[in-house]
Amino acid sequence: SGYVTLDIGYKNTGATKSAITFLDGEKGILKYRGYPIEQLASQSTFIEVAYLLIYGELPSTEQLNDFQFQISRHTLVHEDMKKFFDGFPSKSHPMGQLSSLIGALAAFNPDSLKQGQTKDEINLEIIKLIAKMSTLVSWIYKKSLGHPVIYPQNKYDYVTNFLHMTFGQRTEDVKIEPVVVDAMNTLLILHADHEQNCSTSTVRIVGSSDANLYASISAGISALWGPLHGGANQAVIEMLEKIKADGGDTDKWIAKAKDKNDPFRMMGFGHRVYKNFDPRAKIIKKACDDILDKLGINDEVLEIAKRLEEAALQDPYFVERKLYPNVDFYSGIIYRALGFPTDMFTVLFALGRLPGWIAQWKEMKENKEPIGRPRQIYVGATDRDYVDIGKR
Ligand code: CMC
Repeated sequence: SGYVTLDIGYKNTGATKSAITFLDGEKGILKYRGYPIEQLASQSTFIEVAYLLIYGELPSTEQLNDFQFQISRHTLVHEDMKKFFDGFPSKSHPMGQLSSLIGALAAFNPDSLKQGQTKDEINLEIIKLIAKMSTLVSWIYKKSLGHPVIYPQNKYDYVTNFLHMTFGQRTEDVKIEPVVVDAMNTLLILHADHEQNCSTSTVRIVGSSDANLYASISAGISALWGPLHGGANQAVIEMLEKIKADGGDTDKWIAKAKDKNDPFRMMGFGHRVYKNFDPRAKIIKKACDDILDKLGINDEVLEIAKRLEEAALQDPYFVERKLYPNVDFYSGIIYRALGFPTDMFTVLFALGRLPGWIAQWKEMKENKEPIGRPRQIYVGATDRDYVDIGKR
């Protein structure tokens, strides 16, 4: 029709009805399938939360064991994928590698291209994707070190296996500390879904053209890469490092963030929906203190982060605009404490967000949603006649 409502950035436009994640930005509430994020982060595991998001209910012991069993049977990645992977320069950005590798999985799984897949067939793709993602993320990390990749071990649960492939060695079993497994579970759970954010909307819109699961998720990974979205976790640490190198003068950097003529933004601050606080940031801040304490790490960057937060929360600029620390503000400090290099942070966000993307893609398909196709208001030139190149 001729009538178009304009909402640039979709600030007030709902694109779907969803039963996956509830978010109240005014009250700072986040729930997956009705369960508060605080309870899931402290009592559940990432793989159980993945099941909950994708299938809608908490699993029974049998269902959870079966889910974990099936995933562990699919963690191996086709050896020919290695040839493709080997072609990346060793210093290429992990997110560029990840989105390409996940896209390539479609080529290695031609069944996924079949239209009208049965429920069981779709389920198998879901299992394969969750399984192979953890292997691929660990490959990317190993490559950055110039180390050989480590093969998965079925005896481990999902998170332990991921840590084994990431920090393990070929010749010996490296002890994965329970405190590290717990921290990783918490972080992945906190990132697992966040309703119709930029990358999730991308996954749904790409999937709405009936594109396969791998292509849809690869597109979501690309959307997540940007520093205004998932890339913020890398940007936060880089910012904190810069402030540290600059002598730790937080007031100066707060002034920069407020200066409208300065493009600098306080990374890890502000959120499109949360206008009170980000409940994930609250949990992460505490987890950050705990893990650094347990690992006996004293990170000056954490002190700078805390001072920045304290100063910002009292500053009228931040108060009036309701800018609070978001999930990305403290997560990088934990990833760092666990031993991950900065440019791996956004890949870890993607690993956590994967079940959410899958659940949203599956819901979009089950709801038989039409192809996503926003309209526009045309503001360009109207009638013009073509002019020969010699006469322009
Ligand atoms: N530092 C300084 N000023 C800010 C910031 C910030 N981090 N965030 C927002 N503002 C200001 C902005 O300049 C604007 O001011 P004014 O009204 O005077 O023009 C006002 O606050 C509203 O901001 P907006 O850009 O219109 O808000 P938005 O909803 O379009 O953007 C955001 C939300 C998250 C992109 C933005 O707050 C931002 O760029 N934050 C920094 C990047 C970041 O931490 N991103 C992670 C988001 S959470 C997890 C995720 O999605 O991955």
